[in-house]
Amino acid sequence: MTKTSDSRARHVAIIMDGNGRWAQMRGRPRLVGHHMGAKRVKEIVRACPDLGVSHLTIFAFSTENWKRTQTEVAGLMRLFKRYIRREAHDLLAEGVRVRFIGDRVKLEPALVDLMDNLELMTAGNTKVNLTIALNYGGRDEVARAARRLAHDVAAGKLDPRQINDETFPKYLDTYVLPDPDLVVRTSGEARISNFLLWQSAYAEYEFIDTLWPDFTKEVFAGVLDRFGSRERRFGAVPV
Ligand code: FPP
Repeated sequence: MTKTSDSRARHVAIIMDGNGRWAQMRGRPRLVGHHMGAKRVKEIVRACPDLGVSHLTIFAFSTENWKRTQTEVAGLMRLFKRYIRREAHDLLAEGVRVRFIGDRVKLEPALVDLMDNLELMTAGNTKVNLTIALNYGGRDEVARAARRLAHDVAAGKLDPRQINDETFPKYLDTYVLPDPDLVVRTSGEARISNFLLWQSAYAEYEFIDTLWPDFTKEVFAGVLDRFGSRERRFGAVPV
């Protein structure tokens, strides 16, 4: 196997980093950077059909982000609620199906209600699959999946001999999604920070210096072009 028959990235996952630095460089509070980041989310989601991206997964809030100041955490939660309220109509009209991954237990009920409603409202859409990772951590997801699987074994619904790398991912938050082809991280950091650990086993990675609030449709198109010229082997030797 050399290149995949179609070398476009259909599922792109993005670690949206650099909002804080973007704001600090302008002498503004960090939350201003997050607000600019939310604007970019809108633009990038809208660009997906044009760029041939059918699945976009974005890291909005990690299980580690609770360690930030109370002001920043509260501001981010307000921003997520505002984004859902303000964007729901357009997302629905533009054919975007929205899903959320991550542990909802720790999130405030008002936010969880908005998330549930948006998922339900857009469930019939098929043009773009937008997945927002909120209170998400890859290890946490795998541990929660293992817990659910153990319950099924204990209840006699699953034989331990059936557990393998095809059945296990059915317990992950992403069970309905294809694996990402490409994982992008903005802002110059070359780390994956607990994002989609299981799912990105064969993904290509792209670490770019651009800060998330500067990540335009053109920057996105450039990243996708570079992906198109790479060779993916999935462990095989080129023939
Ligand atoms: C990382 O930048 C960014 C976040 C923790 C939040 C991501 C949130 C958004 C892009 C806002 C909108 C999202 C949605 C879904 C509406 P950072 O704060 O760690 O930046 P820094 O490394 O420069 O400090």
